[in-house]
Amino acid sequence: MTRKVVVIGAGPAGYVCAIRLKQLGQDVTVVEKEFLGGTCLNVGCIPSKAMIAAGSLMAKIRHGEQMGITVQGVDIDLGKLVEWKANIVKKLTGGIGTLFKQHGIPWMEGAATIRDKNTVVVKTKDGEQTLACDDIVIATGSAPISIPGFQIDEDEVWSSTGALAPKKLPKHLLVIGAGVIGLELGMMYRRLGSEVTVVEFTGGALPGSDPDCVKVIERTLKKSKTKLLTNHAATGYVKHGDGFRVTAKGPKGEQTIDCDQILCAVGRRPYADGLGLEALGLKTVKPGFIEVDSQMRTAIPNVYAIGDMVGQPMLAHKGSHEGLVAAAVIAGKPDENDARCIPSVIYTHPEVASVGLSEVQAKEAGHELAIGKFPFAASGRAMTVGETDGFIKIIADAKTDEVLGVHMVGPEVTELIAEAGLAIELGATTEDISRTIHAHPSLTEAMMEAAEAVHKMAIHIYQK
Ligand code: FAD
Ligand code: NAI
Repeated sequence: MTRKVVVIGAGPAGYVCAIRLKQLGQDVTVVEKEFLGGTCLNVGCIPSKAMIAAGSLMAKIRHGEQMGITVQGVDIDLGKLVEWKANIVKKLTGGIGTLFKQHGIPWMEGAATIRDKNTVVVKTKDGEQTLACDDIVIATGSAPISIPGFQIDEDEVWSSTGALAPKKLPKHLLVIGAGVIGLELGMMYRRLGSEVTVVEFTGGALPGSDPDCVKVIERTLKKSKTKLLTNHAATGYVKHGDGFRVTAKGPKGEQTIDCDQILCAVGRRPYADGLGLEALGLKTVKPGFIEVDSQMRTAIPNVYAIGDMVGQPMLAHKGSHEGLVAAAVIAGKPDENDARCIPSVIYTHPEVASVGLSEVQAKEAGHELAIGKFPFAASGRAMTVGETDGFIKIIADAKTDEVLGVHMVGPEVTELIAEAGLAIELGATTEDISRTIHAHPSLTEAMMEAAEAVHKMAIHIYQK
């Protein structure tokens, strides 16, 4: 039976869900209040990675001397960079519009409110429209958090959105939060030429990431003369000269930092403003996530929720996967969200990627651990691309040899992590990985060697 479905939000969770619903023969309408592609395509994953690529190119050009390449007067036209990034965004978001057209998926531009479990009201620029439906999928995403003393206005205080559309290159950028956004964008600005100071509340960068990976990132921050002020909370700022004076409170009291731009990157919150969850009777859990079961169903059986709205990790690929599950379930397929792991990729320099359990989680789950680590310094391919910082670490179960978690820092690890995800999903052992022939010379050989290192059998490093 064909069901009439309204998907609210066209980010990577919502638009993927809508396309799959249509592929499965359902009657779907999408409501989107701001932009097709959501945060990810417009002000998140895609624009940030475009600008980070520009920062990497600048750094590569500047450091070409070791290969005998010297370039004089490297400069950046920020306006052109922003325009290049905007064109990529335009192509991709236009692509979603084209896909909707090809599939025959109608979409309405406007803010949706759920009146009851079978009615969605959309406020468009031409007035209100009412949509009757069998099912509703909530995919309304997330929004940046402001903290007291730093109201995000995208002028004096940027969120990631402002940081991805700069009018000028800051001389000194003060970043609040050494999490994923703070470090991806902070490192990008450093590589583009800004001085950068990062104020972080906890004791180190990238809280929650593998501590060995974090050490490599903190070392790089130091090498690049990016200041990281840990155990400090930014408490406020005042105008000072041509810029700002920021106050940060730490264990030894307050200190001030002068800068000409502030980036607030202290996390994101689930976004359901104006959606009408209370009237619908849908309760949320702190900080506003909607609870769902393994079929992405909320407490109201014909209302589904996916993406950043349903919890951590707030990642595009997690949202898309949930969208596919919700679509299948609505279409009557026996599906559920049973992914064993969700990869995480961080586009710092060097990159960080991980999938599966951390050492602490694996121990807590009762595993006896066998760990293999292979440094990129011993990889021929890493040397030929001039990027030898970092390693691949595999955490396995000592008894069964099953791969439990993989943590990487180094060149192209955001690509290399896919093999590790597949290994965990398929229940592979480290022997499976080491018996798989990896091409030479490639960075993937480090994965094979890390698997061999679990049994102290790596060829290109000496293990006692
Ligand atoms: P969103 O993408 O936020 O989409 C929700 C959509 O719903 C929006 O378009 C919004 O306008 C719309 N909406 C909201 N309320 C209503 C309403 N009432 N009516 C109609 N429409 C509504 N993740 C990664 O996996 N990899 C990355 O490299 C990465 N980089 C990032 C970089 C930055 C700077 C940021 C900010 C985020 C990044 N993320 C990354 C996270 C990623 O963008 C999100 O996890 C992802 O976009 C969530 O998808 P979603 O569909 O749940 O929500
Ligand atoms: P985050 O949770 O990664 O980091 C926030 C940081 O701010 C933490 O380290 C926290 O300790 C710190 N902090 C909080 N309050 C503070 C204060 N008052 N002073 C100083 N430090 C403070 O959040 P972030 O970086 O904003 O990113 C939000 C989300 O966006 C991520 O969790 C992730 O889901 C998504 N994202 C994913 C990316 C990727 O996958 N590559 C890239 C960018 C964002």
